[in-house]
Order: sequence, then structure tokens, then C-alpha cells
Amino acid sequence: MNVNMRPWTPDIDLPDHERIARAAAFCEHIATRHSCRRFSSRPVPRALIETAIAAAGSAPSGANRQPWHFAVLSSPGAKTALRVAVEEEERHFYGGIGGSEWQGLLQELGAKAEKPYLEIAPWIIVAFGQTRASDTDRFPNPHVTESVGIACGLLLTTLHQASLATLVHTATPARFLNRLCRRPEHEKPIMLIVVGHPAPDATVPAAALDRKPLDQIASWL
Ligand SMILES: Cc1cc2nc3c(=O)[nH]c(=O)nc-3n(C[C@H](O)[C@H](O)[C@H](O)COP(=O)(O)O)c2cc1C
Repeated sequence: MNVNMRPWTPDIDLPDHERIARAAAFCEHIATRHSCRRFSSRPVPRALIETAIAAAGSAPSGANRQPWHFAVLSSPGAKTALRVAVEEEERHFYGGIGGSEWQGLLQELGAKAEKPYLEIAPWIIVAFGQTRASDTDRFPNPHVTESVGIACGLLLTTLHQASLATLVHTATPARFLNRLCRRPEHEKPIMLIVVGHPAPDATVPAAALDRKPLDQIASWL
């Protein structure tokens, strides 16, 4: 074997029926994930967030540049500043720029301009994509958004596995997030992930239960 290579691990040879059963069990569990927009202030141990970020860090990435940084907010001051800035941006959107069709659709899905959960939930993770290794590096990292998107998917999956509630949220206003999270210019905020326990009165909008069937999302050639 080439000295730069290592044996493939883990090498568990399962019968196909066992593989299918494992995949189906996972699929059934992950299909119960839904966005939560009412959180309780019940604390979540930092160790859980650390583990979810470690899982995210195992994601594949373009040229293995691992172009992600996760800024984790828990202090009341940071969360309040975030809420104020995000709500201001959203009022702009809901006030007209987003268009009335979009507003209707988003409201049906439970999204509102007021975001109390940004202060109530114990943790807010801001996922940044590193467009290059440093501010002075000439070479751009390849496929940053794709890589960060996959990493965030693993993060959400790990948190769901731990029976925590999450909400993916758009990362605007972008410049403000760099300032708030003290991140350099060559990093761009990609998404916010709100993490916590659901409030006792949390709900899932019926529209969110509507998922496209397999024959609409896959074709076989
Ligand atoms: C990139 C991205 C951005 C999102 N932004 C918001 C947002 O700003 N506000 C919000 O309430 N939900 C947001 N969502 C959540 C979606 O509305 C939600 O995932 C979708 O309606 C499906 O519902 P489910 O997550 O419960 O399955 C976002 C989701 C993604 C993937």
C-alpha cells in the first residue's frame, strides 16, 4: 500500500437486509426533524454543542480545506444584539422588499418578523464560510457554500439525534454578524442555527409536513 494511504475503516461487512434496515431506521428518525420557532430557555450543556460542531467538522469539503467556522453565541448581550439586527433586517423584508407572495408563503411556514427565540434559546450557532485561508491568502477555497452546507447538515443531524430542537435561519445582516462574532472579512456568514429545547407550546406548521415523494425528488438513469 502507498505510504500516504491508510486502510479503509471501519470495514463492517453487513448483509444487505441489515444495511437496508439501518438506513430505514435512520430515515424514519431524521424525518421527524422539524424547524422549531418557539424555544424554552432550558439550558443545554455546552458539551452537546461541542460534539455537534465536531460532527460538522467531519464533513467532506472541497480540497479538504474545511472552510468553516462556527461562532457560538450564548451571552444575553450577544443574543439581544443579534435579535435587534435580524429583526430590523426582517422588517425591511416583510415591509415590502420580499413581495407579498413570499410573505404569505413564509407566514404559512411559521416565519415571522419577530424573533423572540433569538434571545430565549440557549445557543445560537453562526456558521461562517472561509472564502480563503486568511485575509492575505491569494487562493480562494473551492466550493465553500456547498462544504459549509454539508457540515451544517451533519450538525443538525447530530442535534436531532440528541433530541434537541433547531431552527436554520438566514444569516443577515451579513456585515453585522462578522462584527458581532469578531470574525475576519474573508469569512462570510452562511446561516444561523438556533438550538435548544422546544417550548411546551411549540408547534409545527402543517405546510412543513408536506414533503415531496421520492419519485419527485429522484430520477433513475
Ligand atoms: C437556508 C435556510 C434558511 C432558512 N431561513 C429561515 C428563516 O429565516 N426563518 C424561518 O423561520 N425559517 C427559516 N428556515 C426554515 C425553513 O422555513 C424550514 O426548513 C422549511 O419550512 C421546512 O420545514 P421543516 O424544517 O420543519 O422541515 C430556513 C431553512 C433553510 C434551509
